Amino acid sequence: MEESVTVGDKFNTRIREWNDRIDRVVDSDLYFYNQPIEELSGGVRVRVRGREMLMFASYGYLGLLGHPTINAAAQAAVAEFGTGTHGVRMLAGTLTLHGELEQTIARFKGAEDAVTFSSGYVTNLTAISTMVGRHDTVICDKLNHASIVDGCLLSGANFVRFKHNDMEDLERCLRRADPQSAKLVVVDAVFSMDGDIIDLPRTVDLCRQYGAWLMVDEAHSIGVLGETGHGIEEHFGLGSVVDLKMGTLSKTIPSVGGYIAGRADMIRMFRHASRAFIFSAALPPAQAAAAKAAFEVIEAEPERVEQLRRNSRQFIAGLKAAGFDTMRTETAIVPVLCGADERAYTMVQYCQRDDIFVLPVVSPAVPEGLARLRATVTAAHTPAEIDRALEVFSRAGKTAGIL
Ligand SMILES: Cc1ncc(COP(=O)(O)O)c(C=O)c1O
Repeated sequence: MEESVTVGDKFNTRIREWNDRIDRVVDSDLYFYNQPIEELSGGVRVRVRGREMLMFASYGYLGLLGHPTINAAAQAAVAEFGTGTHGVRMLAGTLTLHGELEQTIARFKGAEDAVTFSSGYVTNLTAISTMVGRHDTVICDKLNHASIVDGCLLSGANFVRFKHNDMEDLERCLRRADPQSAKLVVVDAVFSMDGDIIDLPRTVDLCRQYGAWLMVDEAHSIGVLGETGHGIEEHFGLGSVVDLKMGTLSKTIPSVGGYIAGRADMIRMFRHASRAFIFSAALPPAQAAAAKAAFEVIEAEPERVEQLRRNSRQFIAGLKAAGFDTMRTETAIVPVLCGADERAYTMVQYCQRDDIFVLPVVSPAVPEGLARLRATVTAAHTPAEIDRALEVFSRAGKTAGIL
């Protein structure tokens, strides 16, 4: 009896500590998370508590949210199939729509086949833990997304991390790995907090040299990298060199879900051995149809990719000219370095007061002293909207003591 009271108290203490921490931020008027968005128009204007703001925190890089072709595809899927599936894919949940989406992804990514799961997070968990297990080695960039880290931990494989985008350190890890163990290297294509790009050519060379397989998470590179938005292999002009091409359907693709594309026999294995496929429900019809239509829209409207590149250049150059440190970004994810957490909070407070919707990233998500705004720009912003945001950022930066 006494024992269970103690255990219960531990839970209560944990819950109270979390709530106290959140309360402190709310009481200082510095809580910016989970704000209810009442209206989204064109993906770049949001209404929050009755106020219209310009959105600079969207991952809808090509501005496809609300695209009429994609909306129509989702509506037609609901009319045909309803709103859900019968459960897991393997038993009664696979629809013709799932096959069509997977064929579209495979073609888009230049792969033999593809398989989808219910989220990008789940895709990383299940793909890594299906590919590697005890006695294998999984090698990750230090700044990889949390879902990759969680997949590595779940797998039970020997988990090794190399310094961010440091190819000498990657080589050191590969050299030190047990030569008998199967080796999987996992990297982000575009790093989600910094906006920089992995050195794919060198990573591929090292994987080949040391007999490792390569998995690349393209959450922030589909629609963003490459002349026509096909991602990191197109960006580097390398052809099909990645063994596990992972991506999400929740950012550039305005839906939900995740995918792995690659060799047909590997994808077949995932359809029979990955736990998220076997034990979790299929993508709803509307989301599968929307995702398929979105890949087709990217190919039909390549001017969006070029517009995104122009907008990213304008935004990054403007921030730099104002005196901000945008770290090592080369993409539409633009960190605006603030330093201490409080400065990032103050900066956001001023930006939001001036109707620019942007959010802070503070420790422990990033190292202490490197708190930042994680601003994003999309193809749907006009040059005038970007200029307006730059003006607000500059004013806020001066008030927060960053400039
Ligand atoms: C690099 C990266 N991988 C995976 C995910 C997870 O994707 P999803 O939001 O579709 O679950 C995210 C989402 O933030 C991400 O940034």
